[in-house]
Amino acid sequence: MRMSDNPSIRYQITPSSRPGFTRYSRLHEDHARNRTVLLAPERAYELDPISLEVLQNIDGATTINNLCQRLAEKFTAPLEIITRDVIQLLQGLSDKRLLQEGLNPLTKKTVSGNKQNDAGYLPGPTGLLAELTHRCPLQCPYCSNPLELERVTSEMSAAEWAETFRQAASIGALQLHLSGGEPTARRDLEEILGHAVEAGLYTNLITSAVLLSKDQLSRLANIGLDHIQISIQDVVEENSDLISGYKGALEKKYAVARWARELGIGLTINAPIHRKNIMNLEKIIEFAVEVDAQRIEIAHIQYYAWAQKNRAALIPTKEIFLETVNIVEAAKQRLIGVLNFDFVIHDYYASRPKKCTGGWGQSIIVVTPSGTALPCHAAQTLPGLTFDNVKDQPLSKIWETSSAFNAYRGLEWMKEPCRSCDRRELDYGGCRCQAYAFSQDPAATDPACALSSDHTTFAALAEHEAYAPAPAFIYRRYDALSKNKN
Ligand code: SF4
Ligand code: FES
Repeated sequence: MRMSDNPSIRYQITPSSRPGFTRYSRLHEDHARNRTVLLAPERAYELDPISLEVLQNIDGATTINNLCQRLAEKFTAPLEIITRDVIQLLQGLSDKRLLQEGLNPLTKKTVSGNKQNDAGYLPGPTGLLAELTHRCPLQCPYCSNPLELERVTSEMSAAEWAETFRQAASIGALQLHLSGGEPTARRDLEEILGHAVEAGLYTNLITSAVLLSKDQLSRLANIGLDHIQISIQDVVEENSDLISGYKGALEKKYAVARWARELGIGLTINAPIHRKNIMNLEKIIEFAVEVDAQRIEIAHIQYYAWAQKNRAALIPTKEIFLETVNIVEAAKQRLIGVLNFDFVIHDYYASRPKKCTGGWGQSIIVVTPSGTALPCHAAQTLPGLTFDNVKDQPLSKIWETSSAFNAYRGLEWMKEPCRSCDRRELDYGGCRCQAYAFSQDPAATDPACALSSDHTTFAALAEHEAYAPAPAFIYRRYDALSKNKN
């Protein structure tokens, strides 16, 4: 595989530029919150009135000069100041790879809208993670699926997913992540995607890519797929095979990434990193540039489910973790306007935790293949929670009243030191699933926090395991696999 030339250059906005949206970014009427947002891969940007005015007027044909003259007249403001501000706004979006010169023939309609909020409940979730199936041809030892995988016979039908999407959009969901397992193992994926597009959701396919053909991807693009997130186990073939437990995955990922870009679909490379691939981080970043991804997610492993079983095989030393911070920081500077980075640092070497899944019950709903609604993908590991099913209850009711969604929502449930900490509304005490996995108390402070009484033991465990010889992987297997695609 060729890993050399950089195919992308930064798109500089100048007074003579004629910017337009890419196929995977657009304005969206968010009726549930009575606002217009800019939808983009994994994001919904809030817009102030001036930014909205600018973005409503970029069409790939109008020059910045002409646009600014119109705005200067309309707002009776100095042209130089308007021009400076408009270029600054658009350069920021260009650097996120959301704009391009001229009109993309593949650009979808620029304004879409979900249905009016028929639930009368605000604020609803902004994202829905739909685990369409737990079937998967790969066997990654850090899979976030539960240890007890749901069987094909319990999977929701396309019609049941359609109703879930409609309800999610009606309470304010903007982004839909079609995930698994491997979502392309579903034969009715195109029908499911069609329902998502009809509901007005921004669609993101999270895939290992190994089951996709060019024709199928092309059909998905025609239906309206906005974005694809391709997971990478490694860019060294032998290692990719070892980590995924699947031979030949890398070449397929490379091909699918290229097809996606030819079709104008937004592309993120998702690279979980750990002691077995961390030495190739620079090459993984090069890979993302070479396939013209707009984003890369470089995530140190979170140790729940299968990853917890494999922690000793996956955990890197603190020195190596710190090197990854330097590599990512240097690459961010080098690749401004070419590649955007989301970097998830290693919890065991952190001093403060992350706000897990945007805060419990605050921004996303996860729905399992059989329809169980969860506040986060690992919530079923926690004791004492009862989960509702979207086939039995309206999503709005689950979001608002379900005991599981309310268990750790807000601040009331917190203990010290979180309860009186000035960061409590920034990180909400970190991850409940990690707190329970390590401290056997789901309301404990996340041990990633240096203020947790368990933090020293937590960090020491990492040091101990990272320096010991790595054990063999315990693979995540789905035996029935996609021999029986449904
Ligand atoms: Fe966050 Fe709790 Fe740590 Fe404060 S004590 S930083 S709220 S986890
Ligand atoms: Fe469940 Fe973090 S994964 S709260």
